[in-house]
Amino acid sequence: MNTGSPSSFDDRYYQRFYGTHGAHDADRIHQLATAVHHFAGWWGVTIESMFDVGAGMGMWRDWYKTNHPNTKLLSVDISEHACRTWGHEQRNIAEWKPRGKFDLVVCHSVLQYLDNTSFVNAVSNLASATRYLLYLELPTTQDFKTIIDPTATDLDVYKRSGSWYRKHLSPHFINIGAGLWTPHNGLLMYELEGSR
Ligand SMILES: C[S@@+](CC[C@H](N)C(=O)[O-])C[C@H]1O[C@@H](n2cnc3c(N)ncnc32)[C@H](O)[C@@H]1O
Repeated sequence: MNTGSPSSFDDRYYQRFYGTHGAHDADRIHQLATAVHHFAGWWGVTIESMFDVGAGMGMWRDWYKTNHPNTKLLSVDISEHACRTWGHEQRNIAEWKPRGKFDLVVCHSVLQYLDNTSFVNAVSNLASATRYLLYLELPTTQDFKTIIDPTATDLDVYKRSGSWYRKHLSPHFINIGAGLWTPHNGLLMYELEGSR
């Protein structure tokens, strides 16, 4: 399986970057997922299906399972270790897309591990899977200089500019702020709610 990724996602990796001193934990995801879910509600969307891409420890999937148990859930990860430990389907998002669409697709801190070609393929697969909302967290070169905590974040990733990312995302999605994107035929937004 070609991951296009410099990292190996084994037990050491998850111990190192998650938990108390890591990038985020279940409490932080609770805050974020609550906000995203309610923003969707504001826009008139009840999230009935959620697809967690590169799910890792499965924090988003678990938040939905606990708080909205009727939501249809799919979580995938490329890591054999993550899939065995936290119960995901083993998939490479650069090479695979699910059948059908999900109301919310989450791709949290994943695409920086993909090389350029894999990234472009992954975005196309994410677009085909997204009905209304994509939550995307993806650090840029500028973020690594200005905001990223190097003690809590994996630095062994691809670093690309925000404009490079926008160029490849904008054929599929409109940015509606706070890490949220909607497909061109997704949510109808007021002009100043989003940027093309
Ligand atoms: C930084 S972790 C993020 C985990 C989770 N999304 C979170 O935010 O808690 C990156 C995850 O992306 C997964 N990943 C990397 N490349 C992938 C790919 N091509 N397809 C699917 N998952 C991938 C890794 O195995 C790892 O679990």
